[in-house]
Amino acid sequence: MTSADYHATGRDDRIRVRRGEVVIGRPLPWDVYDESGQLLLSKGFVVANPRQRQRLLDEGLRSPLQNLPESAAADTDTASSIGGNPFVTIDQLTVRLEGILSMVQQQNRVVSPQQRIRKMGRDIQALCNYDADAALGAAHLKHDTSYPYRHSIHTALLCELVARRLNWSVAQRLSVIAAALSCNVAMTALQAELVEQAEPLNDAQWDAIQAHPQRGRAMLEAAGISDELWLRVVMQHHECINGRGYPAGMRGDDVLPEARLLGLADRYHAMVTGRSYRNGMLVKDALRRIFLDAGQEVGSTLAQMFIKELGIYPPGSIVRLANGETAVVIRRKGELGGPMLACIANSRGEHYAQPLYRDSSEQEAYTIQDVHPSPGAVPFGLSRLWDY
Ligand SMILES: [Fe+2]
Repeated sequence: MTSADYHATGRDDRIRVRRGEVVIGRPLPWDVYDESGQLLLSKGFVVANPRQRQRLLDEGLRSPLQNLPESAAADTDTASSIGGNPFVTIDQLTVRLEGILSMVQQQNRVVSPQQRIRKMGRDIQALCNYDADAALGAAHLKHDTSYPYRHSIHTALLCELVARRLNWSVAQRLSVIAAALSCNVAMTALQAELVEQAEPLNDAQWDAIQAHPQRGRAMLEAAGISDELWLRVVMQHHECINGRGYPAGMRGDDVLPEARLLGLADRYHAMVTGRSYRNGMLVKDALRRIFLDAGQEVGSTLAQMFIKELGIYPPGSIVRLANGETAVVIRRKGELGGPMLACIANSRGEHYAQPLYRDSSEQEAYTIQDVHPSPGAVPFGLSRLWDY
C-alpha cells in the first residue's frame, strides 16, 4: 500500500497497531504510518527489539483493510480468525480436539467430525502462516496440557510446516493434518497412561498399540469420515519403508509419503517430549536419530526436509551462548540471518528478571555454542518469551 492508498482509505479508518500484532524478529505484515499519515515502517521490516516494538505500539497506525498476513489469506481456503497470541490459540485447539475426539469415541454421529476436524486443520494452517516460529516453540516447550491432545496438535503443526516446504497442496496438507489430529483416536486413554509409565508395556497394552491404526480408521469411518487419503494415512502412520512397521509391515513406496511424514513428526515429538519419569531428548539428539534412522524408516529425502525445516536450533531449543548466557531460541532467522534469542540466565546460571532479546548474528558473544545439556526450568512462560 502506498501513502496515497493510505489516505484514500480515509483517516477515520486508520486503526492503531495492537499488542500481539507486532512480534520481535518477525516481519511486519503491513506498512505502518504515524498520526500525520507519514510512512513509519514498510511492510517486511523486521522488528528487532522491544524499543522498536514499543514505538510502533505507541505511534503506529495501519490500514484496517488487511488483518492477516497475505500468505495466510492466500494459502487457506477460508477466512481465518487466527491472530493474537498463538499459545492461547494452541490451548484452544487442544480443548476443541479433546471435545471432538471424545464424541468420535462415543460414536455420536451428530458432531460432523469431518467438518470440525478439517476446520481445525485450516486453523492450524493459518497458525503456521501467522507465526511458524511460535508454533515450533510450542512443539518443543509447551507441556502444560493433556499429553494425547497436545501431542496431536504439535505433530499436526510439524506436519504442516514440513509439507509446506515439500510444496504439497493445501488440500493434501489438510488431509495429513486431519490424520495427525485423529490417528490415535483409538488409544488416547492408553497414551495418557503410557506417558506416566516407566515400566515396559504389558501384553494388553502391546496389543492395543498394534491395533490402534486399524481401530482408529474404523472409528473415524463409523463417525462419517469419508476422506480416503486421511483414512489411509491413519492406517499407515506406523508403517516403515523397511517393513518393520505395523500393522501390515508394508515396504518401500507402498507406504504413502503423507503417512511417512506423519510417522516422522509423531516420533520426533515423542522423542523431545519429557515423560513424568524422564526428560525429553535434546533436540540435537532427536534430529541426529532422525538423520541416522531415516533412510530405513521414511526415506532420506523426507528426513532431510524435516531437518532443514527445523534447523539445527529450532525455536524452543535451549542453548548456551559464547558469553556463557543461557537462551531460548525464539525465531529461526532474525534481521541479520541468525536465530533470535531470548536470554534467560547469565553465565553463572542466575535467572534474569525479564528475557533479554538478542540477535545471535549481532555479536560474537551471542553466537550459539551448543544445546544446553541441562537447562533446568525456564523461568518465563512462552507468551513472555515470544513477547506476546
Ligand atoms: Fe499412533
